[in-house]
Amino acid sequence: MIRPVLRMGDPRLWQTARPVQQFHTAQLHALIADLDETMRHLDGAGLAAPQIGVDLRVVIFGVDDNPRYPDAEQVPRTVLINPLLTPLSPAIEEGWEGCLSVPGLRGWVPRWSRLRYTGFDAFGRAIDRRVDGFHARVVQHECDHLDGILYPMRISDFRRFGFVEELFPDGNAGAAE
Ligand code: NI
Repeated sequence: MIRPVLRMGDPRLWQTARPVQQFHTAQLHALIADLDETMRHLDGAGLAAPQIGVDLRVVIFGVDDNPRYPDAEQVPRTVLINPLLTPLSPAIEEGWEGCLSVPGLRGWVPRWSRLRYTGFDAFGRAIDRRVDGFHARVVQHECDHLDGILYPMRISDFRRFGFVEELFPDGNAGAAE
């Protein structure tokens, strides 16, 4: 089912989400199906459960050929539950991001360049990956949602935060989510 996405200002987006306790349940699979359907409907690169008002540490992400991000690197379709992120170097990379909870805007956001992430899929199977580039950016953006952080809270230069049409008059708005 396509679910409404909460927008910035809704206090549910500021909460720290609760860990999933039981895997491979009907409720968990239904939640993931809703996240997936909603994300595809909106051509998003990722979506976190709190964005549809569900207080659980569940995110999905993935980019194959997304018309919204023609230049984005591909990211495997992933369901990530109870994630833990660990930077693999002190290097920081800045890049444009957007968010389905902050529609119409883009911001220039610093993120760890390389990181390891661990967690579980919907069946409770362990996930353990080392990633960089756009993949690393998307994971950090989505997992921030589980701690009540939206990307504008990480922007340092607010001249690089604004409406898509103003920032990218030529129409090329590469971004995450
Ligand atoms: Ni987002």
